[in-house]
Amino acid sequence: MITPVLLCGGSGTRLWPLSRKSYPKQFARLMGAQTLFQASAERLSGDGFAAPMVLTNSDFRFIVTEQLAEVGIDPGAVLIEPQGRNTAPAVLAAALWLEQTDPEGLMLVAPSDHVVPDAPAFRAAVAAGIPAAKAGMLVTFGIKPTHAETGYGYLELSEDPGDFAARPIPLSRFVEKPDAGKAAEMLAAGTYLWNAGIFLFSVKTILAAFRAHAPDLIAPVQAAVAQGRPDLGFFRLDPEAWQGAQDISIDYAVMERAKNLAVVPYAEGWSDLGGWDAVWREGGRDAAGVGTSGPATAIDCTDTLLRSEDAGLEVVGIGLHNIIAVAMPDAVLVADASRAQDVKQAVAALKAKQ
Ligand code: GDD
Ligand code: MG
Repeated sequence: MITPVLLCGGSGTRLWPLSRKSYPKQFARLMGAQTLFQASAERLSGDGFAAPMVLTNSDFRFIVTEQLAEVGIDPGAVLIEPQGRNTAPAVLAAALWLEQTDPEGLMLVAPSDHVVPDAPAFRAAVAAGIPAAKAGMLVTFGIKPTHAETGYGYLELSEDPGDFAARPIPLSRFVEKPDAGKAAEMLAAGTYLWNAGIFLFSVKTILAAFRAHAPDLIAPVQAAVAQGRPDLGFFRLDPEAWQGAQDISIDYAVMERAKNLAVVPYAEGWSDLGGWDAVWREGGRDAAGVGTSGPATAIDCTDTLLRSEDAGLEVVGIGLHNIIAVAMPDAVLVADASRAQDVKQAVAALKAKQ
């Protein structure tokens, strides 16, 4: 069995004002009728998948169970992190939990805020990775890079991905978040794929990798699981023990250091929705490049995203070019589309005003 391990921690500040600390983007209906979290859970359900495990914080626990119930999915364990400590402690806690319940099993660690439009194709890629995962590899999923992105990890392949057929290829190297120069070199080299941030491995393999590459995490996280307590169907990791765990991502703690890595190339569409420009690209637009959502009307606009996030709030754009506008009842964003990434500056500025 493969247990999906859904990571539900981040706050996604680049999608303000829709994504908030109190209601991050994975729980919003950004694309279609389902939330990103619901779509992620559904994508990893059905034959071969156990009930999904969820790692989240106390504020989101009821949103998690409500949203899963809405799509008819019974969750497995929902572990509550006392504070966000990044992905390494979260994945380790999940692995230690599964060591008790399914020690021979596989786990598929996935962010719950990505868009992967072709769910059957993605499940086929996961299936293609299973033999490698069973054989003791840490399996990643690799996306063809389109620009020298510095916000992603890069996977150096030991052979050409060719037609991107779903098969595991051994990795030479994992490079997490390079600087701009290195990213440009890797893009030009043509032998690197982007790390999608989705991982498949056996419980045994990832525990061995943590022991080898991040041994200091084991004791605090183990104690947080052992001393944690059940609470209304959730499981609260012990706050004191959890504080002793270093704040570090699985990419830096394990993936950059491990040698037993493989990648399944994936070309059927993936986006981590890292900004409104990505939502606009993924969400569909007309021939003039206009995307609308909610009660929004564009008149003589080109290359523009107009969203109203409230059924009672009409948004109208006239003669706009290259604009992103997102209206919520309590906040409105209007930005030049080329500045989509600077939305996180707005969040920082608003925080400073508080
Ligand atoms: N439960 C939990 N707890 N989840 C967390 C925590 C935490 O403390 N921190 C982050 N997450 C979740 C985020 O919500 C997100 O869904 C996922 O884990 C990955 O964390 P990010 O913070 O979004 O990582 P990143 O985008 O900087 O980088 C990762 O993803 C890229 C692709 O989107 C890396 O894996 C990169 O290598 C990769 O290219
Ligand atoms: Mg991310």
